[in-house]
Formats: sequence, structure tokens, C-alpha cells
Amino acid sequence: KILVLDFGGQYNQLIARRVRDLGVYSEVRPYTTSLEEIRSAGYCGIIFTGGPNSVFEENSPICSADIFELGIPILGICYGAQVMAHLLGGTVQHAETREYGSTDMVTDQGSALFVKVPQTTSCWMSHTDFIAVPPAGFAITAHTSSCPVAAMEDRERKLYAVQFHPEVQHTPQGQDILRGFLFDVCGCVGDWQMSSFIDRSVTAIREKVGNNRVLCALSGGVDSSVAAVMVHKAVGKQLTCIFVDHGLLRKNEADEVEEIFRHQFDIDLIRVDARERFLTRLKGVSEPEQKRKIIGEEFIRVFEDEAKKLGKVEYLVQGTIYPDVIESGAGDAAVIKSHHNVGGLPEDIGFKGLIEPLRDLFKDEVRRSGLEMGIPAHLVWRQPFPGPGLAIRIIGDVTADKIRVLQDADAIFREEIAAAGLDRDIHQYFAVLTNMRSVGVMGDERTYDYTIALRGVTTTDFMTADWAKIPYEVLGRVSNRIVNEVGHINRIVYDITSKPPATIEWE
Ligand code: XMP
Repeated sequence: KILVLDFGGQYNQLIARRVRDLGVYSEVRPYTTSLEEIRSAGYCGIIFTGGPNSVFEENSPICSADIFELGIPILGICYGAQVMAHLLGGTVQHAETREYGSTDMVTDQGSALFVKVPQTTSCWMSHTDFIAVPPAGFAITAHTSSCPVAAMEDRERKLYAVQFHPEVQHTPQGQDILRGFLFDVCGCVGDWQMSSFIDRSVTAIREKVGNNRVLCALSGGVDSSVAAVMVHKAVGKQLTCIFVDHGLLRKNEADEVEEIFRHQFDIDLIRVDARERFLTRLKGVSEPEQKRKIIGEEFIRVFEDEAKKLGKVEYLVQGTIYPDVIESGAGDAAVIKSHHNVGGLPEDIGFKGLIEPLRDLFKDEVRRSGLEMGIPAHLVWRQPFPGPGLAIRIIGDVTADKIRVLQDADAIFREEIAAAGLDRDIHQYFAVLTNMRSVGVMGDERTYDYTIALRGVTTTDFMTADWAKIPYEVLGRVSNRIVNEVGHINRIVYDITSKPPATIEWE
């Protein structure tokens, strides 16, 4: 396995993930990890990550120079490369201007990193400091017009460094470069699979939990589902899942959750019918943030009430995945919408600790492990669904009737998208019950009914999104069916705004 030693860069988990993509297990640990720990863990290679600091600053993260004496091959990336140069006696300099973006690079194909890479290629740079002179024993193996040492190596000691970022997609040959390090330098085999990750996690969870009990708030979303199944695999009936049915899920979804977890996996599941509670609290409320707040609070209250009935439970499972970890670290971004996830659970129930088995994984890795453990594909591929559920897709106040109308309309939209084979291409799509009524005609009668808006977006990260170009025929079928099959709807519109300026949800 490979150690990704974290110096604070933004791509750290991405590096770990690229390594896993090549069939080699990797884990991210802080730069403060002790040499003892590193030695005893049996790593076959170490990658120093980038980071925002400069080796010249007083408190910049730096590791002990003794790490180079362990005999483990090391690859330094960006700041990690500068750390290596600095500690081994090379010269790092501060540049006047930052080098940022795609840059042409000339490589030495004699290097293990560049055997499979053309002599001139491009790479992604993002740095201000640069290595001016490599330490003794190092050869320069790549350069760009503004960076004299884009890569350097001491083959003898198996120390390698690159100033650019091989882990990002903008470095087209990045995977080949990492492959060279992992296979040719470190001698990795590349036979790691998701199943080994699951086995490893299951063992770790079992050890951590011992004879204690574990509680999980199951939402029916991908992350909490995969986390619950993994913990269940580890500790069986020591796990209890609480599923709060707030009545704001999509049509039939609550029943499906029960079917899968209680019947298929035989998980100890408590389904709390809290529909009335939520409806009562939401009565007459139409301000979106107010709805979110109420649902968030009520969720915690219901969860607490149920948890108390169970007596002492030592651990809480959370389906935190890696992007959540970065997002919550981001901090200063303006609050556009307060995204309540099942995340903020009560601290005062007095748990001994958290179990977050998916903390290192990206979404598609979570999906892969879910499929591997036998979670049905339609759940694993479920599109994101907001914690406050349909409440933020009903503009204005929320009533039981409106929920039913929206569920029916949304179900038709989803059926038709799936029937057209578009469900994997459109990343999020749903119906919105607008608060607007308009005049229509049905038979010979005048109608005055609600408008449903359809929303569909394509996106990679949900931070920005484009409206999906759903074929007119599909939109036409959805429109006909909703008007004919769902009462109180006489008009359908399709939302053709991107994000920004709109957001994906309407509230
Ligand atoms: P927006 O509407 O901000 O949505 O473009 C971006 C993504 O976040 C989801 N979303 C939420 N998820 N609680 C959640 O758990 C929320 O309150 C919430 N609001 C939006 C939205 O569905 C989309 O995937």
C-alpha cells in the first residue's frame, strides 16, 4: 500500500484515489505521522502532496529529513517536491509570478516516470516557489520554459519529485506518470480491488466496535445506505438503523427503504412514522430557509426520541464521504442555501465515537462498494435528494395533498426518463410544484389549476450545472401523462436556466 503524506494540498484525496484507480491501495495521513508509524505500516511507497505553503515560511508543514532514510521510495508533488529539495540541500526559490495552468513540458524518457510519456507533453502547474537547483545526487528529468526543474530524481535512493500535478485530469499523461512510480519504482502489483477495501473496513469496524452497540440514521440516500450495510456486515445485529419517515420522500421510496434494509439485508430497522409531526410543524410555512430549519430540527428531535428508547448505544454511523469533508472545511463560502444533511446529529446523546467508513471515498467509489455488497443498482445510482425532501420542491406552504400531487408527477417524470434511457446522463431531475395557478381548458371546462415545473441538469459537482437537453418527445410524453394522470395540474413548464444564475432546486 501507498502512503499519501498530506501537506495540506487540495488534491490529496484525489492523489489517493488515482492510486486506487491503478489497483494499489492508498491512504492519506497527515505530514505529522511519526516515522515509527510509517515504518511499521509496511508501505511500499510514499507520495508527498502539494500544499499552499512555502518552505521559507516559519510554520510551514515539514516532515523529518529522516524519512528519506527509511529506504521507501518517495514521490514529491508540487510543495511536496519543494520539501524534498529543501530538506536534501537543493535550492528552492520564490518566483515573482505564479505559474498556473497547462504548460508544455520536455521529459527525459529514461526516467521511470516518463517511459510511457512522449518527450514533449503537457502538464498542469500551480505554484509560485520553484526548485532552482536540485539536491546533490539528483538528475533533472523534465523542464518547462519557466520551470527549470519540472521533475527530478535520485534513482539510487528512489526519490522522485515533480513540480506539476500528475493527479489532475489537465495533466493528460498523469496516470502513466503515477503508474511508472507505483509499478516500476515501488514494485506495486496492482491487484487491489474495492472488495479488499470493504474487507479491510469491515475488520476495522469490528475491532473498533467490539461488543458495543451502533446506531445509524438511515436516509435511503446512497451514502448512508452503503455505510449502514458495511457496518452491518461488520457487526450484524449490534447495529440498529433508525429511518425517520418524514413523509417528504419520493413516491414509494420509504417502502423501498424498508424492503431493502429490513427484508433483503435483515438489518435491525426502526421505521418511525413521523409524517404528521412534520406536517404539523410545516403548516403555513412558506419561507424556504424556515422549512429547512424546521425539518432539520424536527429530524433531530424524532431521532433523539427514538434513540433514547434504545438505551445506551456507544457508536454512531455517519455516511460522510470525502467531498463532504472538503466542503465542510471550505468554511467561508457564502450561505446560499443551508444544506441540511443527516449530518448534524445530536451530540448530547453521548456517543463514545463516530464510525465513518466512507470518509476517504469519492462518490463513484461509494457506489462501487455498494454494488459490491449487493445493494440494488437502482438505489446505488439514485440521484441526489435533498435532506428536506419534497418540502423544498413545493413552493409555498406544504400540505399532504400537495405532497401527493408532486410525488405522482415526479414519479411519471422519473419513469419516462428511465424509459428513454436517460437516467444516467441527466444527473438530477425532478418535478417542482409551483405555487402558481393558471387558466386551462379540459374537455369543455375551464380549469384553474397548478403548474408543475420539470427540472433536469447535467453537472459534475453540483456547484455549477447546465440544464439538460431532454428530447422534446420525452418532455411531450411526460407533459401529457402528468396532466392526464395527476389531478389539479393543467400546465407543465421546463426550466431552462443553468446554475448560476439559478440553483438546481427551486428553493
Ligand atoms: P442547489 O439547489 O443549491 O443544489 O443548486 C445543489 C445540490 O444540493 C442539493 N440540495 C440540498 N441537499 N439539503 C440537502 O441535503 C438541502 O437543503 C439541499 N438543498 C439543495 C440539491 O438537490 C443539489 O443536488
